[in-house]
Amino acid sequence: MNISIFGLGYVGAVSLACLARDGHRVTGVDVDAAKLALIREGKTPIVEEGMIELMRSVAASGRVSVTDDVLAAVLESDISMICVGTPSAANGSQDQSALVRLAHDLGRSLREKSASHVFVFRSTMVPGSVEDVLAPIIERESGKASGIGFHVAFQPEFLREGSSIRDYDKPPFTIVGAASEPPVAALRSLFGHLPGEFVQTSIRTAEMLKYSCNNFHALKITFANETARLCQGLGVDSFEVMDLLSRDRQLNISPAYLKPGFAYGGSCLPKDLRATIHLAKMCDVDLPMHSAIPASNRVHVDHAIARVMACGKRRIGMIGLSFKTGTDDLRESPLVQVTEHFIGKGLDVLVYDPEVHLSKLLGANRRFIEQHVPHIGSLLRPDLAEVVSASDLLVLGLNDRATLDALRPLLHEDHMIVDLVGIAEPQSLRGQYAGLCW
Ligand SMILES: NC(=O)c1ccc[n+]([C@@H]2O[C@H](COP(=O)([O-])OP(=O)(O)OC[C@H]3O[C@@H](n4cnc5c(N)ncnc54)[C@H](O)[C@@H]3O)[C@@H](O)[C@H]2O)c1
Repeated sequence: MNISIFGLGYVGAVSLACLARDGHRVTGVDVDAAKLALIREGKTPIVEEGMIELMRSVAASGRVSVTDDVLAAVLESDISMICVGTPSAANGSQDQSALVRLAHDLGRSLREKSASHVFVFRSTMVPGSVEDVLAPIIERESGKASGIGFHVAFQPEFLREGSSIRDYDKPPFTIVGAASEPPVAALRSLFGHLPGEFVQTSIRTAEMLKYSCNNFHALKITFANETARLCQGLGVDSFEVMDLLSRDRQLNISPAYLKPGFAYGGSCLPKDLRATIHLAKMCDVDLPMHSAIPASNRVHVDHAIARVMACGKRRIGMIGLSFKTGTDDLRESPLVQVTEHFIGKGLDVLVYDPEVHLSKLLGANRRFIEQHVPHIGSLLRPDLAEVVSASDLLVLGLNDRATLDALRPLLHEDHMIVDLVGIAEPQSLRGQYAGLCW
């Protein structure tokens, strides 16, 4: 395939070298004349393991050329990969000036080309950039329509500096965000042989995914480092703790707890996090990330409350009360906090939870209701139909299919539904779906 690559920094230079190695003809484009000169001489413009030898060999193959002429590069290629930098602006926003300038040049060049062209954006960019900013610029400048005269895609790059070539050859997966088939087919032929799943998704999802991956990596590093500081304060071996933590593939290094849903609560996480934060204070260890977790959890609860209050209904049916599905444990349940808020605002509230009936509750949980939330105990109903018929708005707080199935036939068209856990398929519910809580 004939490929043009715009931006010959870490991402662009490694892509150029690897694609040429794999037999493609690649034209590299950069505004930096020094980088172009280096590649012309068969030298690498970046310091990366394996790049010196690889650049030398692909330059010798005759499959690599470089230019600062955008028009020539577009005319001579079928597909362009855009890898220019997207640094931070002073206020933290993304500086897209290089991307925007380039999009103008690409659009003007496309005007001169009769064949269709594929633009694959590989620079990390905030969601919406390709469809709302860059594709419209190319449309205006070229006079052609996106999806007809040209195609756009976003393919996040997952390589890490220091191991770029190895990462290029062994990505975790290949993600292609596209709204039309030509870019997907082209990228499948370029990258389909690589290990890892090839996944097609929307452009916005792919854009957001790149940020979520990087943010998650930053979170993991910070978690490990905060844990290490606390361990040091306590005289515990942090390497051993983190090594053992990583060996749990069921709950720790796994998809567990990574599905959006409602706030955490219950008898363990809140109290143990509080104790950790207190312990750190005792050791004079600062743990800003751990300390921010309860506040973030509270924001999630407040957001749900605001969502329900904004619906303006006064008769509320809470479907679920315990801190998670399948238990009757009410200790530090965020659904209890939500329910208490509604009661405090003078709303009429009834509660259904298949695991929480006063008549069924035993020992500690019964005592908990009687001592701590007696006002909620009196609102509990064992019959779902009674709660539904007495409510104008239903708050889904249980991730329980059986309860959802039982609820469906009881709904009428005037019911509003707010889903806190992401269980409801809105189209399958009679009533007005007021959306997810977040
Ligand atoms: N560096 C990484 O490990 C990495 C990994 C994944 C994604 N990314 C993302 O990829 C993008 C590129 O990152 P990088 O580290 O390779 O950047 P970089 O700063 O090393 O290189 C960017 C290159 O783009 C060139 N450029 C600027 N304007 C241009 C234009 N109009 N036409 C042609 N070239 C132009 C610059 O001269 C420079 O050589 C960024 O959005 C980054 O967030 C980087």
